Order: sequence, then C-alpha cells, then structure tokens
Amino acid sequence: MTQVKASGKVLGASVTDIDLSRPLSAEDFGLIVRSLGQHGVLVFPGQRLESAQLRDFSARFGHIQQSVTGKLADPQVPEVGILSNIIENGEPIGLGDAGQDWHTDMSYNNTIGFTNILYAVKVPVRDGTPLGNTLFANMCAAYDGLSDSMKARLEGLTATHDFNKFWDKMRTRAGSIRPPLTPEQRAKRPPSVHPVVMTHPITGRKVLYCNPGYAIRINELDQQESDELLEALFTHQLQEKYLHTHVWSVNDVLMWDNIGTLHNAIPDYQAHEHRLMKRCQVMADRVFEPAFLSSARVGAGMH
Ligand code: SIN
Repeated sequence: MTQVKASGKVLGASVTDIDLSRPLSAEDFGLIVRSLGQHGVLVFPGQRLESAQLRDFSARFGHIQQSVTGKLADPQVPEVGILSNIIENGEPIGLGDAGQDWHTDMSYNNTIGFTNILYAVKVPVRDGTPLGNTLFANMCAAYDGLSDSMKARLEGLTATHDFNKFWDKMRTRAGSIRPPLTPEQRAKRPPSVHPVVMTHPITGRKVLYCNPGYAIRINELDQQESDELLEALFTHQLQEKYLHTHVWSVNDVLMWDNIGTLHNAIPDYQAHEHRLMKRCQVMADRVFEPAFLSSARVGAGMH
C-alpha cells in the first residue's frame, strides 16, 4: 500500500510503495492530491519512467502546458520538456537555466499552474554531494505570517504577472544563451492578472499568490506604492522559516504545488557536471472543478 511520510518541516513528504509507470488507482490519485495540498512538495524516489509514462501520470492532474521555447524529451511526446545543461553536437539539449531564481510556474497564464512534475535522469554530484538542489517556499505559511493589517491591505488587490520578466532576468546572467523572446513567443504568453491572495482549492486555506519571477505590478496602486508593496511581499515570502530544500537523487519524481509554493533551482554546478530533468507543467484547469475535488475526496475547507 502506498505510504506518505511527511518531512515534518515546513514543506515536503516522501511517497513510496507506488509505481508511477502504471496507471494510478482512484485511491492513489486521491491520496496524491490531498498530500500535495497538505505537504506542497512530494518526492517519489526510485521511479523508472519513459516520457509517455511521465506524461500519462501528469495528465491525471490537468492539461499539460507545452513549452514555447524549450526542447522536448521525445518528439512523439511533446508534453514532456527537457531541462539540462548538456550540450550535444554544439547544441544544448534542453533549457539549461530554467527556473534558476524564485518564481511560480505559469503564474503568467490566465489559467495558472497547478503542479510541476520533474523526473531526475541525471543529477550532478561533487565529492559525494548532490548539486542542483531545488528550493521551495511555503505560501500558505507566508500568508499566515503576515500582520493583520497587511492581510487587510491585500484583500481585493490583484497583480499582473508577465512571462517576459523572468525571461529577461535570465538573459542578464553571465553566459546566458537565451535570445530575446520573439513577438510570436510574447504573443503566446501575454501578461495575466490574479488576486494577490487566493484560496487554495485543495486545502481551503489562504495563500499569498505573488512571486518575484513574474509579478510586475499591483494593479490598484500607483507605480511607487506597487513597487514598494511588491518588494515587501518578496522579502517576506522568502524568509528562511518558509523554505524547504529538495536534494535530488537520480530517478526521483518530484511533484510540487504551484498554487501554494514558490521555487528556485540552484545553479551550483559546472558545465561538465551534468543535470537532466524531464518536466511536465500541469495547468490548474481541473483542480478548481468540483468533480476533480470530489474524485480526490477533498471537501471544501479541508485543513
Ligand atoms: C522549474 O522551475 O520548473 C525547474 C526546477 C528545477 O529544475 O529544479
């Protein structure tokens, strides 16, 4: 029977005695959805997945967004992208610097991201220590940690999120090979607007939905007030007490909740130290639906 063992920290649980290459049972589907809401980041160690199996597992949770810029693991499986620093025949095999700063995936979309699912094919290791950790921040705890006056101030505010903000930030990094987005790529990823405080569909708890990677403006404030409030929120949400580190092992499947967390992939490895992840980005097009929540046996207001 599938086991879920909580890390006992601010985020994280390990899910074992489950084979993700096989179709998920209704029980395991419900257990995973509820555990994701409760723990935010789930690791499934020791999995062996073909790209199509990673896609099939991911697609149980919503529609998979395909990359407009990245490379694919397998042309037959366009839902699965590659994140890697490996160069083959002079060409990067995947997006090398994806996610290397604090952000929330797909907050720039009208339909926001629900979960990212990564499968670790290669993990860099130096002197026995794995590199390329992924850090997470808990946005439910960050909301709870706001002062009452800040909670009242945020009620009803919305933020604009822009894909181009993170893209351009990555381009300023030394050695970046990212070209500017083409007008066609920008048109596929126009900015979007979301409430700064959301109710999490699985837990019914409030989350601070704002991130330094993509949020560019609090729409109801003038520019200076908006800049100041965003800076204050970014500083607040990244305090050590809200952070969790995932240290990768080869064959980990890592699944995280994009509604209730931020993340940051740490680039502490060099070009010859190879990292290769296969990635599916699952949109929140189903997780807000009553049918999805009831099939996961999630009651409104579950805590
Ligand atoms: C991402 O932001 O989706 C990538 C995270 C990672 O490579 O660890």
